[in-house]
Amino acid sequence: MKTYTTIVKEAKDYDELSKHAAEHVINVVNKKPEATICIAGGDTPKGMINNLVQAKKEGAVDFSQCQFIGLDEWVGLGENDPGSCQHFLYHHLFKPLEIEREQIHVFDARSEELNEECTKMNQLLDSLGGLDIVVLGIGVNGHVGFNEPETGADWKAHVIRLDEKTLQVGQKYFDSSITPPKFGITLGMKQLLHSKEVVVIASGEKKLSAVQQLLYGEVSMEHPASILRYHPSLRVLVDQHSFVKTL
Ligand code: F6R
Repeated sequence: MKTYTTIVKEAKDYDELSKHAAEHVINVVNKKPEATICIAGGDTPKGMINNLVQAKKEGAVDFSQCQFIGLDEWVGLGENDPGSCQHFLYHHLFKPLEIEREQIHVFDARSEELNEECTKMNQLLDSLGGLDIVVLGIGVNGHVGFNEPETGADWKAHVIRLDEKTLQVGQKYFDSSITPPKFGITLGMKQLLHSKEVVVIASGEKKLSAVQQLLYGEVSMEHPASILRYHPSLRVLVDQHSFVKTL
């Protein structure tokens, strides 16, 4: 498979990065009001999401016809569990943007039938013709969504035993008395690569090595984000701390 030149945009700080990321989402929705959108949970997208909420308030964008797809979830958790991806998305994104339930399609990670959840998600994405835009954070181990190192580059939605690093870093989303679940459910690399637009956002020195690997390292599932270089128009938005230009 052919790799492409990645478009890297370096922002002076997190606020500027967040603004640029929001502009991408807004452009997609303004061009295609019924766009299918997927936005990662986690810390990095918070600023971008605040910008989206502000833009909605100002009437600069209308999400009322969009479909929102959940990227991933900790197995066993749902929207009422603090620390879960859905708790984050409902609180920061869906409620402030007044997104209706019918527009939200997320994994039920509390289901006994997780494989069925994956099948349903795969069918839904196929019927929608894939994602129009996905905005991804990147893990320090290079994961995107819960596509962990050494998993399949051509996988669709799946359940995965989470990497030790993911569990260790993921503790930040949870109260110290709660141990993060050991399994995750996620859209697969195949679906991320199939998205019409892929935007990766990274901020802070802790992401430096992961961003360097994504941009300049070997393309391999040892570092899942690097696989996104197979996407013809991957955009990586970084701040000064998470990026060192390599000629
Ligand atoms: C969360 C997700 C993860 C995060 C990544 C970075 O839904 O899919 O891949 O995007 O772990 O997390 P933060 O932004 O908290 O550094």
